[in-house]
Amino acid sequence: MNHKLELQHITKTYITEEGEMTALDGVNLEVKPAEFLCIIGPSGCGKTTLLRMVAGLDHPTSGTIILDGKEVKCASPDRGMVFQEFSLFPWRKVLKNVEFGLEISGMRDKERQAIAEKYIALVGLQGFENHYPYELSGGMKQRVAIARALATEPSILLMDEPFGSVDAQTRNILQEELLEIWARTKKTILFVTHSVDEAVYLADRVAVMSARPACLVKCLAVDIPRPRKRTSAEANEFRAKLLMWLSLERSKACVTV
Ligand SMILES: Nc1ncnc2c1ncn2[C@@H]1O[C@H](COP(=O)(O)OP(=O)(O)OP(=O)(O)O)[C@@H](O)[C@H]1O
Ligand SMILES: [Mg+2]
Repeated sequence: MNHKLELQHITKTYITEEGEMTALDGVNLEVKPAEFLCIIGPSGCGKTTLLRMVAGLDHPTSGTIILDGKEVKCASPDRGMVFQEFSLFPWRKVLKNVEFGLEISGMRDKERQAIAEKYIALVGLQGFENHYPYELSGGMKQRVAIARALATEPSILLMDEPFGSVDAQTRNILQEELLEIWARTKKTILFVTHSVDEAVYLADRVAVMSARPACLVKCLAVDIPRPRKRTSAEANEFRAKLLMWLSLERSKACVTV
């Protein structure tokens, strides 16, 4: 079958003052078109590094990343990224934040405004177009970031713990909204999280990473019908399985998927 994204033997070594530091050590992963794939792993294992490389913002030390049949070599609007920290331009209003990628691509005023308005409505922020980021709550800021990432109509959405900084209730709401957007837009989503609960609620498959130097420990399919109940017996069972894989030592665990 055609894969949307292929990570082939990805290794990343940083040169630091203390010497070489291997963050990722031979990560192999294949993502299907329109798949919702969560990546979970301990802090510092290289999840952000991996996403940045798929975005083309950083490069593997060795290995190849193939998106839509082409090797990823640099950043491009066909990859929308939502970052771990709020990353809006504070001096731009909501509309102008969402228009940003379209502006860079040289699209004309009226056209990009119409597209930005469409995505602002999709994330439920109609009426806030002329607000500055400081006038928004954390959850609203992340909705703007999602609208901005979607506005360039990327073929894949890369999300780095996008709901990590919001309260539990807002996080649940944002997760539900994201699933609706995913169902409507049929985007492929690569979603990094620390949260086992979040992965079980959102993902088609969960890729479990080991501690650094990180490899992929296991890819688990979440065979729970949607819409999912957060506390169903099958969700609890899957959570336990995921926790078991997360607790394995790297040396015992690394696999080639
Ligand atoms: N530019 C850099 N230079 C040197 N080391 C780096 C650089 N970027 C990341 N690292 C190191 O690479 C490792 C992986 O970092 P990364 O940010 O990808 O982890 P993470 O899995 O996203 O962690 P978290 O869950 O805390 O966000 C860490 O040890 C980090 O210190
Ligand atoms: Mg990170």
